[in-house]
Amino acid sequence: MSRSSFQQFHWQSSQFKSASNDIDSFYSLLAEQMQRLGMQQQTLGAIEAYPLDLYQSPNPHSSRPNLLISAGFHGEEAAGPWGMLKFLSQLDSEVFNKINLSLLPLVNPTGFKAGHRFNQYGENPNRGFEFAAGRALESADSSVEGKLLIAQQDLLKALSTDGILTCHEDVLQHNCYVYSFEPEQAAGAFSLGLRDSLAGFFEVAADNSIDGCPLDKGLIHNHYDTSFESCLVRLGAKRGACSETPALEDFDQRIDANCAVMQQFVAFSL
Ligand code: NI
Repeated sequence: MSRSSFQQFHWQSSQFKSASNDIDSFYSLLAEQMQRLGMQQQTLGAIEAYPLDLYQSPNPHSSRPNLLISAGFHGEEAAGPWGMLKFLSQLDSEVFNKINLSLLPLVNPTGFKAGHRFNQYGENPNRGFEFAAGRALESADSSVEGKLLIAQQDLLKALSTDGILTCHEDVLQHNCYVYSFEPEQAAGAFSLGLRDSLAGFFEVAADNSIDGCPLDKGLIHNHYDTSFESCLVRLGAKRGACSETPALEDFDQRIDANCAVMQQFVAFSL
């Protein structure tokens, strides 16, 4: 089976009392949390009526670890952005004294609103991050969102030196898994911790292959492609991960799992 680019997926969240694709409600709740936490907003560009926003810690300091979390690359993978909202609502601003945290809460707003994977131009926002001679490069596969991110690669590289987590979902799955990147050939505590945080909510995918990538105990480890996360690791992020929650399971449970994996990612660097 393959993932459809324009099939629409809509769920209802009990905890947020909102439809998964209610973008106005999402942005309104996001603005409340960002105001509460005092995070600094930077608009990297616009996709139709929507901004591609990056948020940073209120008072970043060079002595602290730099962590970046992104969500909402694929429009139908809605529990990522909503999970980030829940993560923010539970975040104590004291954490900014220990880490420099940066967030890309919703990379593909037109896909999110429609509830489909690609953006409204039919592009895949998580492909086309080519890498050569130490730089990220555009290709024919790059999306409008990807081009905005590639244009900010020096900033995004600096904000993710100690880790990048990107939160995805798999609409074909009842089970969870993680794409992980660490300097060692074998997966270590970072990867296993993220997988285990998802395993508190769902069964871990059995050892076989997903999209042609070998899966071992719920991890696809050090698999490089032209995704955003892969590119940031090549640019120098010490470790990286792409979490995959199962979109055939309950939406609110997926939101909780996305919140938990973000908490685990931050806790690992504290
Ligand atoms: Ni995805």
